[in-house]
Amino acid sequence: MIAVPDPIPRIRAALLAWFDASGRELPWRLGTEGARDPYRVWVAEILLQQTQVARGLHYYDRFLEAFPDVQALAEAPVEAVLKAWEGCGYYARARNLHRAAKVIVQDGFPGDYGGWLALPGVGPYTAAAVASLAFGEARAVNDGNVRRVLARLYGEARPTDAWIQARADALLSPVRPGAWNEAVMDLGATVCTPKAPRCAECPLSAHCAALAGGTPTAFPAPKVRAAVRMVQAVAVLIGDEREVVLERREGGLLGGLMGLPMLELGPDETTGEALAALCKRLNACPGELLGQVRHSMTHRQITLHVYAAASNLHRQVVATAVLSRLDHKALELLRTRQEGLFATALTDGSSV
Ligand code: ADE
Repeated sequence: MIAVPDPIPRIRAALLAWFDASGRELPWRLGTEGARDPYRVWVAEILLQQTQVARGLHYYDRFLEAFPDVQALAEAPVEAVLKAWEGCGYYARARNLHRAAKVIVQDGFPGDYGGWLALPGVGPYTAAAVASLAFGEARAVNDGNVRRVLARLYGEARPTDAWIQARADALLSPVRPGAWNEAVMDLGATVCTPKAPRCAECPLSAHCAALAGGTPTAFPAPKVRAAVRMVQAVAVLIGDEREVVLERREGGLLGGLMGLPMLELGPDETTGEALAALCKRLNACPGELLGQVRHSMTHRQITLHVYAAASNLHRQVVATAVLSRLDHKALELLRTRQEGLFATALTDGSSV
C-alpha cells in the first residue's frame, strides 16, 4: 500500500510562506512575531470584531492616539473612551475595554488564554487571538474568515462551530501559531473572499476541495439569517448644528449613548401621534419635518423621522457628545437643509 502524505504540513508551509511574502502590514503587527504588544493586539481584536480591517484602521489609529497604552485607557473617564470609540458601534465593547484596562493596570496583562478569557468583554476568539499573537500560545482562532477558508479547503457547506474549531486546531502551526492565525485571516480577507475569490493566486489552491469541485463560492452555504425587524421612530431636533437637546438613551435601542430625544412608534401609531407624545413629554412645541434617516443594525433597521421642535430645555455641545451614527445622520439633515436653503437663496437672487 502506498502511504498518502499527510497534507497538513504542506498546507502550513504553503500558507506561512505566502503570509511572509504577502501578509498585510498592520499597526498591531509591529515587533517580534509571537511577542507583540498585547495592548495593541487586544484593542485591534476588539475593534475588528464587527468591522473590516480597511474600515477599522482609521478608528484604530484614533483610539491608539487617544489612549497609547493600557494605563492611559484605565485612567481616562468613560465618556472619553466612548468618544474615542465613536463610529465603531457596539459601545458595550468600549465600556468593557475600559473596565478590563482597570483590571490589567492592577494585575498586569494576563499571560495566557485562560487569563484573557477572564477579562470583561473577552471571549474565546479574542483570547485565542491575543494569546497567540502576543504570547505565542498555540490557540486557533475561529472567525468569519477562518470559517470561509476552512469550509472551502475541506468542501464543507455547513460547518458548525465545533467542526471549524476542530479543523482550525488541527491545522494550527505549533511553531508559529500567531502567524498562522493571521495568515488565515489575511487569506480570507484578500484572496479567499466571499464573492470573487482569487483562486489563481491562492497558496492553498492545490489542496482546496471547493475549487476542485468547481464551485468555491458555494462554500460555505449562506447562513439563514434571523429576520431584520423594521423599526419606525420619531426624534426631535431642538437647537442648531452646534448645540442641541440630547438625552441619554435607555434600553436596547442604542442604550447608554446620548442622542436626540426619540420615541419608537407603537404598532398602530402614526408619526404624528408619536411626535405629539414625545413633545408632550419634553414640554416642547413640534415643528416641521426635517427628513428621514435610515440606520441598519444587526437585527433592526430603524427609520427615524426627524422633526424640528422648540423648547427651552438645556442644550449640549454636539462636538463633545458621544453620539451614535444614527444621530450624526439626523444632525446631518440640518446641514444639508441649510445648504439647500442657501442654494435656493442664491438661485432666487434675481438681482445677481
Ligand atoms: N481581523 C481581526 N483580527 C485580525 C488580525 N489580527 N489580522 C488581520 N485581520 C484581522
